[in-house]
Amino acid sequence: MVGQPRPRKRVASRQMTEPWWKSAVVYQVYPRSFADSDGDGIGDLTGILQHLDHIARLGIDVVWLSPVYRSPQDDNGYDISDYRDVDPVFGTLEDLDTLIKAVHERGMKLIMDLVVNHTSDEHPWFLKSKQDRHNPKADWYFWRDPKPGTVPGEPGSEPNNWGAVFEGSAWHWVPERGQYYLHLFSVKQPDLNWDNPQVREAVYAMMRWWLDRGVDGFRMDVINFISKDPGLPDGPMTRTGYGDGMPHFSYGPQIHAYLAEMRRSVFEQRPGSYLTVGEMPGVTPQQAREFTSRDRGQLAMVFQFEHVALDQDGDKWTPRRMTVSDLRNTLVKWQDALAEDGWNSLYWNNHDQPRVVSRYGNDTTYWRESATALAGVLHLHRGTPYVYQGEELGMTNVPFADIGDFRDIESLKRYAEAVGHRGADPSATLDTLRHKSRDNARTPMQWTGGDGAGFSTAEPWIPVNPNHVWLNAAAQLDEPTSVYNFYRHLIALRHREPLIVDGTFELIEAPSEQVYAFRRRLGDERIEVYANLSDELVALCLPDSGEVILANYPASDRGRDSLAPWEIRAYKLDS
Ligand code: GLC
Repeated sequence: MVGQPRPRKRVASRQMTEPWWKSAVVYQVYPRSFADSDGDGIGDLTGILQHLDHIARLGIDVVWLSPVYRSPQDDNGYDISDYRDVDPVFGTLEDLDTLIKAVHERGMKLIMDLVVNHTSDEHPWFLKSKQDRHNPKADWYFWRDPKPGTVPGEPGSEPNNWGAVFEGSAWHWVPERGQYYLHLFSVKQPDLNWDNPQVREAVYAMMRWWLDRGVDGFRMDVINFISKDPGLPDGPMTRTGYGDGMPHFSYGPQIHAYLAEMRRSVFEQRPGSYLTVGEMPGVTPQQAREFTSRDRGQLAMVFQFEHVALDQDGDKWTPRRMTVSDLRNTLVKWQDALAEDGWNSLYWNNHDQPRVVSRYGNDTTYWRESATALAGVLHLHRGTPYVYQGEELGMTNVPFADIGDFRDIESLKRYAEAVGHRGADPSATLDTLRHKSRDNARTPMQWTGGDGAGFSTAEPWIPVNPNHVWLNAAAQLDEPTSVYNFYRHLIALRHREPLIVDGTFELIEAPSEQVYAFRRRLGDERIEVYANLSDELVALCLPDSGEVILANYPASDRGRDSLAPWEIRAYKLDS
């Protein structure tokens, strides 16, 4: 249920010098799970092409494509063996050219995922590098000798104590070279040595090649990890039995130098303006401001992780109770930190996060209300919003039956490590995976209530969420009160109201802990947003004038002195 935007009194014209991506909304496609056109159970580029109008109709400005490069698919494409080709599972380079053209024809832009902290271990660069210590690519990765006085290749002889994100040591022994290589993620994802100028130039050349092909920017995978402390020192020990290397690579000594060089070598010579968003685990607000400041212009924006780590204690598998205050404080902190300079990205979901409606909302009693309330809060912030496929339908976490239903390397490794090695209880471990596994985000897009959810005619590579029978695009497109139409309205509102893009942000102190309220202001206009992020009705005084420009309850149910469970309302007022 949405309010009708009133006719505009005054169109505050946006500064022509402002980059286009500040007023854009981005839609992330995870190709494997979006749409399967050739009946092999795996999504592909032609499937995306066939459903492009779904994205365009939502009002989206930019499509972000998760990796479709040639890859052994150890980490679903985040392990790349050829940066200049498309994996046959997704189609061909020609299919991608066709898709880029079709995206542009619909007035949208397309950004590619850029995964250059590491390659696949099947990339020709790595195959060469591992041969011996003297080949031309010998120094393209992090190769180190075993710890002196230990038996090479045996546990304990690794060059340092770092653990990998996907369990175990971050080092792998290669007998041919008699050395270990570093892999912060899986053993099939060796880290590139960015301190070698040849590596950097090879990456920049590849980026230029993609820009020449017509792409409009990049989402840069764990880009803050590319500069490591030269000595690769041990990190503080964690519960996994390995050290945490983050202090030595999440904000390394050369990170600004490398991103500045990238900007000069790849982007600066070109007439256009590109969307660059750096995924940066562990980034602080201060650092984010440095990366995105107008003067440095290293990146358009970053993905920070604080607001998606509030329900965990240290590592993602250890739950912690999150309060509405925690969430509010974090969101406000980031709004404030980038108020004067720099720019925020705004997101709840992506291919690595469980579904927000199940995580921070209520995916049963208040499914529609909480999905829309969370959407409204995010999209009315200052920054560039991202919608992850299926989020616009309110897609939920998945009732995975057993470990055989999971596909994600991180989840499978976690289960093997916890149950296999540490003797953890299998059903408790499964339960954690049900809450936090990345596979919650990766089940097929729910197009219809039919077999395979309209995603594929074959058995999908990962099970379809059983709730597709009622939760699907077909059921929502023409339903005015659907989650889909709420998103559509929100995106249209952002395009219509310059103050949602450019306005200042300030917190409104609300009488209830469960309410998140804020004000956006530009010139003589303001918008006030009131959201009840709980299952209880809350009493509070709402504005008695102004136009309701966004609401998720019918007008007849709206009181002036209370908000129903998960109710959101936005008012447009004159200052
Ligand atoms: C990023 C990606 C994630 C991937 C990892 C390694 O965090 O979003 O999916 O597993 O990097 O590339």
